[in-house]
Amino acid sequence: MNYIEEVKKIKREKNAIVLAHSYQNVEVDEVADYVGDSLFLSQKAKETDADIIVFAGVYFMAQTAKILNPDKKVILPNSEKAGCDMADMIDLQQLRLFKNKYPDIPVVCYINSTAEVKSECDICCTSSNAVDIVASLNADKVLFVPDQNLGRWVEKQLGNVEVITYNGYCPIHNNFEPSGIKDARLQYPEAIVLAHPECKEVFLDGADYVGSTTGIMNYVKNSSAKQFIIATEQGVVDRLKRDYPSKQFYNIYDKPSICESMKLNTVEDIYAALKTEAPEIKVNEEIAKKAIKCIDRMLEVSK
Ligand code: 13P
Ligand code: SF4
Repeated sequence: MNYIEEVKKIKREKNAIVLAHSYQNVEVDEVADYVGDSLFLSQKAKETDADIIVFAGVYFMAQTAKILNPDKKVILPNSEKAGCDMADMIDLQQLRLFKNKYPDIPVVCYINSTAEVKSECDICCTSSNAVDIVASLNADKVLFVPDQNLGRWVEKQLGNVEVITYNGYCPIHNNFEPSGIKDARLQYPEAIVLAHPECKEVFLDGADYVGSTTGIMNYVKNSSAKQFIIATEQGVVDRLKRDYPSKQFYNIYDKPSICESMKLNTVEDIYAALKTEAPEIKVNEEIAKKAIKCIDRMLEVSK
């Protein structure tokens, strides 16, 4: 069976769309309607008039799409395994303890969090709009969960807001060390270092540009440079290699950094998910009603 053609056919028949994160296996793009970073995909989830959304991504992304579309079917292939280690680092009880420790301070939650956590935060953000979102609060202090690295980076960009961070992190990005940049620069002295803000502060200090997955891809698009060292998940490197065959892309440590949860989906899985309309994402109605406020507030700022 030609799964790519079959997915296209079944999408038309069922009025379905496929949203794919740029960390997915690159072949998933063949059947995706939209590929991009977390912000772009949540905007597309909000806008769509499709009846079915298949999310090629991780759990919190599909859950966000479902919260935005309570009356649509949202399907996440491989849903039992497609978690996000960072999102799982804070639950509702831990959020409440954190808030109690620092009362009366607005709480920003990274979109990489559960619906329960979102339901008790003031506003959501992604890596591409985190600076604008924190600035939009006009506060002297904010609490930021769960990613300490993104929170610290935002604090540094703004300079006039104290960002009190929870201690979560992404195991993939947090793994990059400053010595990795040093060695990569020695090996590829002409290359520009592009990094995701989920990396540690000491690592980001040595990068030439910091941005979301889309930010990194746009930087390459607009740059006349020919060589780049990429400090994020391999999906971005694979797409850059595909899209810019005349440019060179290198990994920190000369080896791919893989988020296993992002790499589960094949085109065949997407076909099976569309065919069976499963596994479907469900979100408790009360939680969803509260969580949508913090997502919508973000989308309003990032229009
Ligand atoms: P962005 O999609 O905002 O670049 O974030 C990357 C990420 O880790 C998603 O899980
Ligand atoms: Fe979560 Fe990190 Fe994987 Fe992104 S790359 S989904 S933050 S574990």
